[in-house]
Amino acid sequence: MKTGIFLPYNNFMKEQLERILIEANQIRDRIKNSHELEDFRVKFLGRKGILKDCLDKIVEFEEEERKNLGKYLNFIKNEVEKIVEDLEIKFKEIKTTKFDFRHPGKKPLIGNLHLISISFEKIKKIFMGLGFSVADSSEIVNEYECFDSLNIPSSHPARDLQDTLWVDSSNSRLKNNLLFRTQTSAHQVKFMKENKPPFRIIIPGKVFRQEATDRSHDFEFHQLEGLAVAENANLTELKGIFEKFFSEFFEEKLKVRFRPGYFPFVEPGLEVDLGCLFCAGKGCLTCKNSGFIEVAGAGMVHPVVLENGGINSKENYGYAFGFGLNRIIMLKYKIDDIRLFHSSDLRFIKQFN
Ligand code: DAH
Repeated sequence: MKTGIFLPYNNFMKEQLERILIEANQIRDRIKNSHELEDFRVKFLGRKGILKDCLDKIVEFEEEERKNLGKYLNFIKNEVEKIVEDLEIKFKEIKTTKFDFRHPGKKPLIGNLHLISISFEKIKKIFMGLGFSVADSSEIVNEYECFDSLNIPSSHPARDLQDTLWVDSSNSRLKNNLLFRTQTSAHQVKFMKENKPPFRIIIPGKVFRQEATDRSHDFEFHQLEGLAVAENANLTELKGIFEKFFSEFFEEKLKVRFRPGYFPFVEPGLEVDLGCLFCAGKGCLTCKNSGFIEVAGAGMVHPVVLENGGINSKENYGYAFGFGLNRIIMLKYKIDDIRLFHSSDLRFIKQFN
């Protein structure tokens, strides 16, 4: 369509271009950031923008008009490009110069040690101060290690299928009956076999029991095992170790009381009570008015267990003890639900750092 004969249309085109520049200037004053500037650029200068649209129309004019309109269009285009350039510089400056160095930075989220690890480090230090070293262990052991070697007969309730989590080995080449250790005592005999007395060790670790959970029971918790074998290992030393350990851990002088107890792998077996932390022995709800709280099992290592470990029970004596780490940590930090230890609630996890 040649439009040279339609002068009014020609004028209309010029007017239209003028209006474009006016509109561009108006919009310019409202542009607040580089995103809006980009929208502006696309709208006016983009491949499908207003000015390209005009150019398409101008091409259809007669040569003379085309030249004039073309010049005018170029002028408008330059003006709009200048607006874009100026604003680009302005926004770049804002970006670089408006940075406030005094403004506090964003703190990255940093992880922290779990209360179990924090407490274990403390416990380890105390026991090392008392001449103990830390032995390695694995969470999966065999039936012999966890029960038979410890003088636990197959009729013992601890071996009940209901209590123990067994590893399903029906499809594997594993010969021994494997299980998730129900007690850290499972490492006593193996350690005795691999080491010559005298030694004093602690074995910390997670243990597993198939049982219903409530505030004070969990199917997965931590224990600390202690084992000392020497010519002169005796209960007086053990009592001293307990008194020292608990007083240091709880940061107050606490009484320790031994009562007779039964564990197949110790003879005599003992229940270990600690002077109540909450009423200083006067009697309260926590200690059920007894003035003491039960915290551990212990005793002199049974001669059968020593012999299972390849140790001559006529030449050496041993004492052993075991307690729930979670339980003593709960007492120290006044935690009333054992399940919090493996919750992912950061409000719980973060408060002990
Ligand atoms: N293994 C026992 C339990 O899980 C605790 C225990 C009692 C450990 C007496 C010992 C001990 O070493 O001598 O209940």
